[in-house]
Amino acid sequence: MSDSKDIDDKATQAGTSKTSKSDGKKPAKDGEQGQNKMTTKMAESLLEMNPALKNEMAGMDKGKAAEILRNLDLSDLLTGMSVGGKNQKDMASYKFWQTQPVPRFDDKEESITEGPIKRIDPAKVSKEPDALVEGFEWSTLDLTNQEELHELYDLLTNHYVEDDNAMFRFNYSRSFLHWALMSPGWKKEWHVGVRASKSKKLVASICGVPTELRVRDKKIKVTEINFLCIHKKLRSKRLTPVLIKEITRRCYLNGIYQAIYTAGVILPTPVSSCRYYHRPLDWLKLYEVGFSPLPPGSTKARQITKNHLPSSTSTPGLRPMESKDIDAVHDLLERYLVKFNLNQAFTREEIEHWLVHKENPSQEQVVWSYVVEDPETHKITDFFSFYNLESSVIQHPKHKNVRAAYLYYYATETAFGEDKKALKERLLMLMNDALILAKKSQFDVFNALTLHDNPMFLEQLKFGAGDGQLHFYIYNYRAAPIPGGVNEKNLPDENKMGGVGVVML
Ligand SMILES: CC(C)(COP(=O)(O)OP(=O)(O)OC[C@H]1O[C@@H](n2cnc3c(N)ncnc32)[C@H](O)[C@@H]1OP(=O)(O)O)[C@@H](O)C(=O)NCCC(=O)NCCS
Repeated sequence: MSDSKDIDDKATQAGTSKTSKSDGKKPAKDGEQGQNKMTTKMAESLLEMNPALKNEMAGMDKGKAAEILRNLDLSDLLTGMSVGGKNQKDMASYKFWQTQPVPRFDDKEESITEGPIKRIDPAKVSKEPDALVEGFEWSTLDLTNQEELHELYDLLTNHYVEDDNAMFRFNYSRSFLHWALMSPGWKKEWHVGVRASKSKKLVASICGVPTELRVRDKKIKVTEINFLCIHKKLRSKRLTPVLIKEITRRCYLNGIYQAIYTAGVILPTPVSSCRYYHRPLDWLKLYEVGFSPLPPGSTKARQITKNHLPSSTSTPGLRPMESKDIDAVHDLLERYLVKFNLNQAFTREEIEHWLVHKENPSQEQVVWSYVVEDPETHKITDFFSFYNLESSVIQHPKHKNVRAAYLYYYATETAFGEDKKALKERLLMLMNDALILAKKSQFDVFNALTLHDNPMFLEQLKFGAGDGQLHFYIYNYRAAPIPGGVNEKNLPDENKMGGVGVVML
């Protein structure tokens, strides 16, 4: 690690780096709409993530290499398989991850017994963290303290996930961090920071909150890991493995031996991979900031008209969710989520925390939840929610940020019948209303992944394919691959649903 003084003295200016690695959690840009082929850019970035494949293709003619890439099974590419199936090189190139209890790329599918990879003996878990290099020290963040919450906010605002071209960077608000990191059962020790010893400046973070997951027929206690971030001046110095080992140790000490995490980068080994989709709400602004392209042959006016939404919603009985709806929503959501191979097992307290917005004039709203109450029976038949995650637009003369609504949890009674057409129609109506409500709340874009039953409505509701992929990982757990809602062409596919039922922030 470099001299901590460097960090202390010159707190880097936000957003000047052009070299940051991007991440599928990123404020990804709108890709080619309606494409049925992998774009060159996607192929290139996949190649970057797959060292063995890159080596194999190194000597090839460019055109031929591109052709081979386009014809390869995308899921193989995504899980690091090489053309000739020589995957040892892939694992070997992950110096840290190959030492961890995670599935290998070359694990054989037919031999998978689902469950923990390594039994942890709590007595053997070190009571002390590994030492950091000189000049830096561990710090447990107290996020109930506004100053420390602000420090984390500041680190993330300047150094967290950017898109490939360093045009956008996630800007999680303080109220978002409060919401995301202080969910029921949260533990202070899982808000891990690294500080420069002299100045005490926060230079890295990794955080977790506890929850329960269902992986097919098994229920497991996990930590949801998020906000891994390293100051730009401390990159490529192998600090990430140290952070991961430290939060793992702290989880083990609390008797939690599994974790769920997502990333845009390929690591050994995704249990599932979903694709980002984006529905412009303010197309012109998205165009001006460089998020949405003007498709060849179209005009600005045509794009604006295409993305126009009605001014009022159409689902009868739709209204904002209130505290009195918690039990009904909990019951509906649990019944809906168990359809999916990988899903979150919510408690009542979690439903309240994650879904009910509590009015507080000093805090920005983070989550928007709506229910459909049957006008006659007063039963809650449907609900949907989205959360607010802004991205800073880096160095733009006119726009400072893009306000993105991310589709969060939803459920509908129509999902329990046999009639797939009815479910599709219902989702089209509900999600169109979600778009209208997000537009009314001044969001610029509505983002969704190909998880849950989303492939049923994404394309019809004019979501465009993004250039970001989100890979799901479970630490210290082996599970057979779970479909991510996309087919071999990386397009939403109703035959690939039923896999991912968890939304990670
Ligand atoms: C992601 C980030 C922490 C990686 O830091 P870095 O300085 O590039 O990498 P380091 O030298 O510290 O560590 C490299 C190791 O971390 C692994 N790694 C990189 N990104 C990772 C991620 N998102 N999750 C888990 N491991 C990751 C690498 O694979 C490598 O391990 P390997 O040898 O087994 O392949 C840093 O780039 C960053 O803060 N980026 C902006 C925020 C971000 O993208 N966070 C991740 C959100 S999922």
